[in-house]
Amino acid sequence: MSQFNIREAREQDVDNIFRMLKELAAYLKEPDAVKSTPETLRRDLQLYKCLVVEDLSNGESSTKPLIGYAAYSDKFTMCDGRLTVLDNLFVAPEKRGKGIGTRLLDMVSKDAAANGCNGIEILAHGWNSRAMAFYKKRGAIDVTENKDWHYVQIPLKSQTKMDN
Ligand SMILES: CC(C)(COP(=O)(O)OP(=O)(O)OC[C@H]1O[C@@H](n2cnc3c(N)ncnc32)[C@H](O)[C@@H]1OP(=O)(O)O)[C@@H](O)C(=O)NCCC(=O)NCCS
Repeated sequence: MSQFNIREAREQDVDNIFRMLKELAAYLKEPDAVKSTPETLRRDLQLYKCLVVEDLSNGESSTKPLIGYAAYSDKFTMCDGRLTVLDNLFVAPEKRGKGIGTRLLDMVSKDAAANGCNGIEILAHGWNSRAMAFYKKRGAIDVTENKDWHYVQIPLKSQTKMDN
């Protein structure tokens, strides 16, 4: 029997999702990057999709701790049409290497295909070689390498300055 169960997130999962988001940000060496709070994640639950992983290894226990999640949403580009943006993929360190990440990515891919998306967009750090190998083994193409793309952001404050 599988030691984990993946299901759609519910409102009552948000505190646990936030805990994992903070853990992911720390792993990605950006502990201060999280601007969201449990309140904004709860408020915006309609704006993103989230799958959570329940740990079933403690048998019939009624409380099933969450040990991973995938957060994603759809976007549209003129060239690609509909795309799914995989925003976060996280599995608790002690549960890695058991196929959970692969299953999460499979489920995101199936949902994306069912919604008419043409691909999955992922932003990964170059130093995160384990994640890069994980994605490449599952068909990802590194457009930074292949097309010399640069990911740029305009902070809203500078935009306001430009308008004035
Ligand atoms: C990337 C991540 C989600 C993968 O989840 P996972 O549950 O470990 O994924 P899987 O078990 O399906 O596959 C992991 C791969 O690493 C290998 N592996 C073996 N032991 C491992 C371990 N202890 N930890 C991680 N990976 C291990 C697996 O064999 C597998 O190899 P494969 O790609 O050749 O099949 C997970 O490692 C993670 O949360 N990493 C930290 C956060 C992160 O980098 N997220 C992505 C940001 S872009």
